[in-house]
Amino acid sequence: MELTEILDRGSAEAAGAAEPARPTSRKVFIKTYGCQMNVYDSQRMGDALAVSGYVATDAIEDADLVLLNTCHIREKAAEKVYSEIGRIRQIKKERALAGKEMMVGIAGCVAQAEGQEIMLRAPAVDLVVGPQSYHRLPDVVRRVRGGEKVVETDYAIEDKFEHLPPQDRATLRSRGVTAFLTIQEGCDKFCTFCVVPYTRGAEVSRPVSQIVAEAERLAVSGVREVTLLGQNVNAWHGNGPDGGRWGLGRLLFRLAEIPGLARLRYTTSHPRDMDDALIAAHRDLRVLMPYLHLPVQAGSDRVLKAMNRRHTAADYLKLIGRIRAAQPDIAMSGDFIVGFPGETEADFQDTLDLVKTVRYAQAFSFKYSRRPGTPGAEMDDQVPESEKNERLQRLQTLLAEHQRDFAVSLVGRKIDLLIEKPGRETGQKVGRSPWLQPVIVDEKAGGIGDIVQVRITKAGPHSLHAVAI
Ligand code: 5AD
Ligand code: SF4
Repeated sequence: MELTEILDRGSAEAAGAAEPARPTSRKVFIKTYGCQMNVYDSQRMGDALAVSGYVATDAIEDADLVLLNTCHIREKAAEKVYSEIGRIRQIKKERALAGKEMMVGIAGCVAQAEGQEIMLRAPAVDLVVGPQSYHRLPDVVRRVRGGEKVVETDYAIEDKFEHLPPQDRATLRSRGVTAFLTIQEGCDKFCTFCVVPYTRGAEVSRPVSQIVAEAERLAVSGVREVTLLGQNVNAWHGNGPDGGRWGLGRLLFRLAEIPGLARLRYTTSHPRDMDDALIAAHRDLRVLMPYLHLPVQAGSDRVLKAMNRRHTAADYLKLIGRIRAAQPDIAMSGDFIVGFPGETEADFQDTLDLVKTVRYAQAFSFKYSRRPGTPGAEMDDQVPESEKNERLQRLQTLLAEHQRDFAVSLVGRKIDLLIEKPGRETGQKVGRSPWLQPVIVDEKAGGIGDIVQVRITKAGPHSLHAVAI
C-alpha cells in the first residue's frame, strides 16, 4: 500500500454539499481515515447518498447517518476506529432519547477485513460496507432503516464505478480546484508486511473512457489539478480508443489534452512498474508535475527480499537515475518501514545510506506493524518496540533534514503557483508548488484556480512564502 497517509482527515466530505436540500433530506456525517483513496471514496459515497436525499453535515450530533471510512494498514489505525465507535455510541443514545435516528456505518478497509466481527464487537454499528460496494449504499441504508443490520463486503461482480452516479458539477466545484481521481484499485504485489492485497483485492484498472469522462467533468467544473490514484497506480493499463494497450504514460498524455487541466500527478507507484513510457511522460509533459512518490520501504537487499519487494536497492537507485536524467527537476518522495522482522542495525544503516543517496524532498516513515494474515506477522525475529522507536527517530531526523534542505534550496527561485484557497490569516492565500509544498502569498497574487508566477522568499518548517512577480 503506497498511498500517502493523511490520517484522521475529518468530517463531512461532500455528500452533495451544493445540492438543494430536498424536503425529505437527511444528514450524513462522513469521517475519513487513511490515504487519499479513502478521501476520494468518501466523496463518492457522498455522491451515492445524495441521490437518496442525504446532505453533508460537519456536526456529528445532527447526523441521521454516520459513516466512518476506515483504514486497516497498521494496527493503530484500526484500533482508532473502535474508540471512535465508543464515542459515537453515546451520541446515538442521546439522539435516541430525543426521538431521533442515528445509523452508524463502517466503510473502508476495516469493514472489508473484519466484516460481521465489527457488529459483534460494537453493537452500535448498523451497517458494514466494503470498498467495492459503495454504489449499493442507498439500498443498504434503506434496508437498515427497515430494521435490518447489513453487512455488504462481497466484492460486487458489477463494476462499482459503472453504478456510482456521476458527480454533480456544483458539488465538484464546492470541493476546490484540486481533485483526486481513482484509476486503479487493489494490488497483486503481496509485499509481506501489507494488508492491501487482502482488503482491496486484486489489481483492477478502470477503462480509459471512464477515466477521461471523469477528468473532463472535473475540468469543466473548475478543477485545475488532478491526482490519479491507485494502490499501485503505475500498474494501471487499459485499451485505448485506437485498440492498443495503454499504460499510465500514454494515459497521462491523453489527459494532458483536456482543456483547463493544468496539472497532473499520480500516486502511489511501485518501482517495478515504472516503465519507459512513464519516464518519457516526465520528460515531455509540461503538465505532469515534477514530483514522484516512489516508496522503497528499506535499503537492505536482505530486508527487501524478505518483504517480497522484488527489487534491490541498486535497482531502485538506478531507476531514480533514469528518472532524474529524464526530468532533472524532479523531487522524490518515499515510504519507509523500520523494524521489519529480522532487520539488524546493519540493515538499518543500509536504509540510512540509501536515504543519503536519494535525498528525498518528502517522505513518510513507519514502525513495522504486525498485521494478522500477512506473512510478515508469522516471521521469527520480530524487532523489539524500543529498537523500532529508536530507528524511526534516527530516520525521521535525517529525512526532516533533507526536506528542509530542499525547501531552503528553493528560496530565490521563480515558480508557478496554483492558488488553492484563502490563507489562515487575513490578506493571505495558499497555493501549491509543483513539488506539493503549501506556499503562502499575498491574496492579491491571484484568484483561486489561477496559476501565477511567484518568487520564493522564505522556507518555513511546513510551508514556503512567496511574492508575486
Ligand atoms: N507496518 C508499517 N507500515 C506499513 N505500511 C504498509 N503496511 C505496513 C505495516 N504492516 C506502510 C508502507 C506503505 C505505507 C502506505 O504504509 O510504507 O507504503
Ligand atoms: Fe501493499 Fe506492496 Fe501492494 Fe504497495 S505494492 S499496496 S506495499 S502489497
